[in-house]
Amino acid sequence: MSQMSPPIVRTVAELRARVMAWRAAGELVGLAPTMGALHEGHLSLIRLAKTHAHRAVASLFVNPTQFGPNEDFEAYPRSEARDAELLASVGCDLLYAPSVSEMYPQGFATTVSVRGVSEPLDGAARPGHFAGVATVVTKLLLRCGPDLAVFGEKDYQQLQVIRRLVRDLDIPVEILGAPTARAEDGLALSSRNAYLTADERSAAPELHRALAAAVEQLHAGRSAAAVEADAMDRLKAAGFSRVDYVEVRAVDDLARLGPGPVPGPARILGAAVLGKARLIDNLAV
Ligand code: PAF
Repeated sequence: MSQMSPPIVRTVAELRARVMAWRAAGELVGLAPTMGALHEGHLSLIRLAKTHAHRAVASLFVNPTQFGPNEDFEAYPRSEARDAELLASVGCDLLYAPSVSEMYPQGFATTVSVRGVSEPLDGAARPGHFAGVATVVTKLLLRCGPDLAVFGEKDYQQLQVIRRLVRDLDIPVEILGAPTARAEDGLALSSRNAYLTADERSAAPELHRALAAAVEQLHAGRSAAAVEADAMDRLKAAGFSRVDYVEVRAVDDLARLGPGPVPGPARILGAAVLGKARLIDNLAV
């Protein structure tokens, strides 16, 4: 990590000036929104942005409004200097790292709320979470004005919420989903994996294994209801203290499918708590 950090800007005026200069020169701009504590998954977002655009902008903002009152906003890992070096190593051209008051000035009173796709799954388990995400992502897209924006498929429901809001609000940006980056044992990379003890880290890949086994059973024609119940039992047996859901859903709007065999393309999504970490993962069916 010896490259120089990308320039860091903290105000919307500085961000817009840089992006507008690039666009005036005919360059395409890609944005990768993050909350920092970067890992290989985030770096893959920048690499994907750079394959589709001349310039990649990363944002780093730990967004308080998407954390519930008993969640880990204060504890969420923060490492801006290290993040900037990592971004330099993948050719990121600019880091936008606003303060909370720059993002939400005194008197801020607007919430973007996406009905339907944001309601089940994490929307039910984390009330208010997707309104916080949708509001900050709308602001980031309007502030930066990129040609494209990249989000990880690890947060599959978030990706579908963002696709919906961009369509509904006519925001002129192309949304790209990046495949989930995984450790060798299958665990989806996440900044929250840092909360796991050594024993919990050994048990954590069971979430991916349970979903992968479920996909095989669904392909063999087993009913969604039976497969979901087995996967939840498997996670509890592996030491997960709470399983919020394992559900097979429609790919775009995440509508519930019937309890029987899955008729076509679908997505299986799971969320479960291990120690201090709430882990999520999903796979294509
Ligand atoms: O996925 C994340 O890291 C966050 O939810 C996002 C998209 C940066 C919004 O705060």
